[in-house]
Amino acid sequence: MNVYEVTFLFEDKNIPQPVVVKAAEGESILDIALENGIELHHNCGGVCACSTCHVYIEEGMENLPEMTDKEEDYIDRAINPRLESRLGCQCLIYGNVTVRIPDQSVLLGH
Ligand code: FES
Repeated sequence: MNVYEVTFLFEDKNIPQPVVVKAAEGESILDIALENGIELHHNCGGVCACSTCHVYIEEGMENLPEMTDKEEDYIDRAINPRLESRLGCQCLIYGNVTVRIPDQSVLLGH
């Protein structure tokens, strides 16, 4: 089983330092965050039925599965969606990635 490096950056100014963790191939960014004590909302429990696990992929988009139409629909409903937006629960890693976590203190919509 391959192990990759995931770098978490934070929009929340109270968390200025990046957090770098190791994770196994095929794990989701949501699970990796939660296992490492990083707060990331996941109102639907990780089944691509909300937009609260919204993250920005700053590097390594090519190391994630292609976005499905369903994921795209929910990203449209996220706060401040950008080109590099993904849903953390749908991003299984197949290489190193750098992820920016939106401020989790903002009330996130569905
Ligand atoms: S946790 Fe709901 S879509 Fe990811």
